[in-house]
Amino acid sequence: MLSEIERRELEDTVKHYPDKRGAAIDALLTVQRRRGWISDESLLDIAQFLEMTAEDLDSIATFYNLVFRKPVGRHVAFVCDSISCWMKGCERVQEQMKNLYDVDLGQTSADGRLTVLPIACLGHCERAPAMMVDQEVYGDVAPEKVKSIMDKYE
Ligand code: FES
Repeated sequence: MLSEIERRELEDTVKHYPDKRGAAIDALLTVQRRRGWISDESLLDIAQFLEMTAEDLDSIATFYNLVFRKPVGRHVAFVCDSISCWMKGCERVQEQMKNLYDVDLGQTSADGRLTVLPIACLGHCERAPAMMVDQEVYGDVAPEKVKSIMDKYE
């Protein structure tokens, strides 16, 4: 069930759209900010609020990779694996994540600190390889820089 505060935030969110359903992504992100991820139960609550089916909302949630349909760590590092970053060695960034935090793409570290996910182009191609941690985008991410970046995210 949506909390009072979540319901208020969703009401604020949908105000900006002519049709409630147009607010689907914002609504998912709004609830995710509070709950960390979107469980089936959360999905159903949001779908009811938006007056749409859970199946329709799920297809939007699944398509949009900043909506988490599984639990994630306290921080999420997205490693871009599109063409420019691939050419500039994004695989070495992924390997460094594995070496430092024992976490593969798609996994969460044992201490719950970090989830590492692939992402399509972050729009930072001129500074490839790029990654994004939570909301912050980093460019020119050489493997040697990974630790100093990640040290900010305990
Ligand atoms: S290809 Fe990685 S930021 Fe564009």
